[in-house]
Amino acid sequence: MSSKPVFVLNGPNLNMLGQREREVYGALTLAEVETRCRAHAAALGLAVDFRQTNSEGDLISWIHEARDKASGIAINAGAYTHTSVALHDALKAAELPAVEVHLTNVHKREAFRHKSLIAPAVNGVICGFGADSYLLAISALSSLVTSNKKV
Ligand code: DQA
Repeated sequence: MSSKPVFVLNGPNLNMLGQREREVYGALTLAEVETRCRAHAAALGLAVDFRQTNSEGDLISWIHEARDKASGIAINAGAYTHTSVALHDALKAAELPAVEVHLTNVHKREAFRHKSLIAPAVNGVICGFGADSYLLAISALSSLVTSNKKV
């Protein structure tokens, strides 16, 4: 097991999973997504630090914290994905393996979701597989952490 956990960071409105637009985001709650992430990561020998906030500033502070305390970052930044230069800059500053995650296929949705400002600051993007997007991201991080491939 890596000595440092992977941080799985969730941004705005993801605390509403299971209630929010279920036809778009599905019926699972964020707590259920977290349980699946923990089980999947444990099977890969990784610990998970799973967090959610509605605040852009918290996400930025957590990414700064990750620089020392995490082995990698999976981030579903929610709508901040499409707006936040500050999150892009924080991910660059973290110098860690990082994966952008979305439950939905943002490219099949409204045009304003097609642009990600954080994509250039991560190793890769996984979207469109529901809660499995998180598990795929953790698998990708596991390989990146092993080979220490930073952004
Ligand atoms: C999302 C996609 C974003 O466009 C949206 O703002 C979200 C959720 C997803 O997981 O599919 O809040 O990140």
